[in-house]
Amino acid sequence: MTLGAILFDAYGTLLDIHSSVARHAARLGPSAGAISNLWRQKQLEYTWTLSLAGDYRPFDALTAEALDFALATHGIDDPVLRNDLLASYRRLTPFADVAPTLTALKSSGKKVGILSNGTPGMLREALDSAAIADRLEPILSVHALRFYKPDPRVYGMAAESLYLPPHSIGFVSSNAWDAMGAARVGFKVFLLRRQPGPQEYALDGKVTPIVSLTALPPLV
Ligand code: LAC
Repeated sequence: MTLGAILFDAYGTLLDIHSSVARHAARLGPSAGAISNLWRQKQLEYTWTLSLAGDYRPFDALTAEALDFALATHGIDDPVLRNDLLASYRRLTPFADVAPTLTALKSSGKKVGILSNGTPGMLREALDSAAIADRLEPILSVHALRFYKPDPRVYGMAAESLYLPPHSIGFVSSNAWDAMGAARVGFKVFLLRRQPGPQEYALDGKVTPIVSLTALPPLV
């Protein structure tokens, strides 16, 4: 397959969203895993509800609001820990398959970038800290649009930025709802299934499932 560019989702696809809580798990106690899951669930919920309401607040602000909800739900009131978790979220650990895959794609001459809900500032900081920024260009964010994925205009903005038709853009996401949005606009979508789980969004036949990013280079 010859695609003009490959775009990656960032959070959960390249960056381990649970690595922030993992770093501070001992301070959070037995509910650490539940807090991390609720944090992510609320963060995403806020992006969808605000977009539906025609409102927008940046992803870093929603990330902080979602963390506050998750900590309060589990009865944790610790401002220092809260700030440490948010600081860690800006420097999430990349998954082990990310750097080798980006290197392989770049060395085969592919254009490789990001399309993310993250603000340009938080993406830059996370990619620098993960030491992968040099292999990713362009870094496309919803921030200038002021609405979130999976609004089709987000993927449309990416196609316009790349001067490519949607069918020649590969899109890789571990988020099924994001894969659905990209497939609907005609991107060639790779659904990264890092963990086994039930199918969602009737994606069978519409996306190519992969279990590791290392499977990607021969497919594109
Ligand atoms: C992103 C979130 C959705 O990076 O994972 O856009």
